[in-house]
Amino acid sequence: MDNQQLLALTEKYGSPLYVYDANIIESQYHRMVNAFSSVKSLNINYAVKANSNINILKVLKNLDAGVDCVSIQEVLLAIEAGFEVNKIFFTPSGISIEEMEKATALGVQITLDSLSVTQKFGEKHPNIPICLRINPHVMAGGNHKISVGHIDSKFGISIHQIEDVKKIISETGLKVIGIHMHTGSDIYNIEAFLTATEILLNTVKEFDTIEFVDFGSGFKVPYKEGDIETNIEEMGETLSKRFNDFCTEYGRDLTLIFEPGKFLVSAAGCLLVKVNVVKPTPNIVFIGVDSGLNHLLRPMMYDSYHHITNISNPEGKEKIYDIVGYICENDTFGSNRSISKISENDILCIHNAGAYSFSMASNYNSRYRPAEVMVYNGEDYLIRKRETFEDLLKNQVIIDL
Ligand code: LLP
Repeated sequence: MDNQQLLALTEKYGSPLYVYDANIIESQYHRMVNAFSSVKSLNINYAVKANSNINILKVLKNLDAGVDCVSIQEVLLAIEAGFEVNKIFFTPSGISIEEMEKATALGVQITLDSLSVTQKFGEKHPNIPICLRINPHVMAGGNHKISVGHIDSKFGISIHQIEDVKKIISETGLKVIGIHMHTGSDIYNIEAFLTATEILLNTVKEFDTIEFVDFGSGFKVPYKEGDIETNIEEMGETLSKRFNDFCTEYGRDLTLIFEPGKFLVSAAGCLLVKVNVVKPTPNIVFIGVDSGLNHLLRPMMYDSYHHITNISNPEGKEKIYDIVGYICENDTFGSNRSISKISENDILCIHNAGAYSFSMASNYNSRYRPAEVMVYNGEDYLIRKRETFEDLLKNQVIIDL
């Protein structure tokens, strides 16, 4: 979308505003399918946590994607969006047996991620086929907060505990039909994926009953022009070949699964914010906008870089600014940024806000969460209303004092 179209959307729907371009989601999906086209059976399961707006889910459903859910609520959202239960994979961590049972009662494929849960689940439901999440102990990911496949991570069953889990499986009679891993997010290094792949495939050899191998996700997307990213085409070629060779060598008929979040939706979204104040101080020119860490937490939580442009004055002379939020915390969206001259009431575009942006938003400082708009084939649709004061009060029980 160009700047004029984005500006028109803020005029129509107000600010702050999340805008998603569904055609970008479609093209990213096709890119991924093409990259792995030599694999006989491939499932792309969209990681709902990245952006759980039901209309985004519907776009992916229409492309024939599956979904990766991590809470029973995400499962219910996926069903609401129209996904068949056989397209829904449930890969939570550290949840209760009761939540697992709710998911299996709906007919969803579950993944178990600890010895204890495997034991308990196996004793109660030996007939339900399960997937096991393995922790391959590979250090990968953009920063330590989003690296989850290393030895000190809470996720998965350690590869050093394979004998223990095999014992539980044979004692309880559980059938393992899937093996899963996810090592982190923002991984650009194909070698890290391939190292983990070898470890996972070795685990597959331990079980004769495996039908699918889920390699998780973590593909790094570019956050600005020229930024490093996972070369999905190269990775598709290399990993598919390895996977196909493995299937031939061991006579296995396996489905390959990925669960991308960022790759599918990050670049499709942006957050449009309005400049409330231009505030020069002795050292820094602060630009205060009508948003903050309550709407987009990634820069503050992970030091993530989100490119910021001034769509009201794109041709202006560039100056150096710090773009900050209106929350009573140090909520800086971007420091020391060179941006075309900013004036009060200008609209700034914060890029790559399609993934882990609205889905991590909150009402901190009792602020409303933004509206969301989806643009699809040239039409714009309001897909989430802006919150109101009633929303803030909705679940508060006011007692007589
Ligand atoms: N599968 C599992 C089991 C996951 O835990 C995740 C992400 C994904 C797939 C999707 O990963 P992706 O393709 O989006 O990298 N909030 C952080 C990212 C946390 C990712 C959590 N798990 C961020 O904004 O960078």
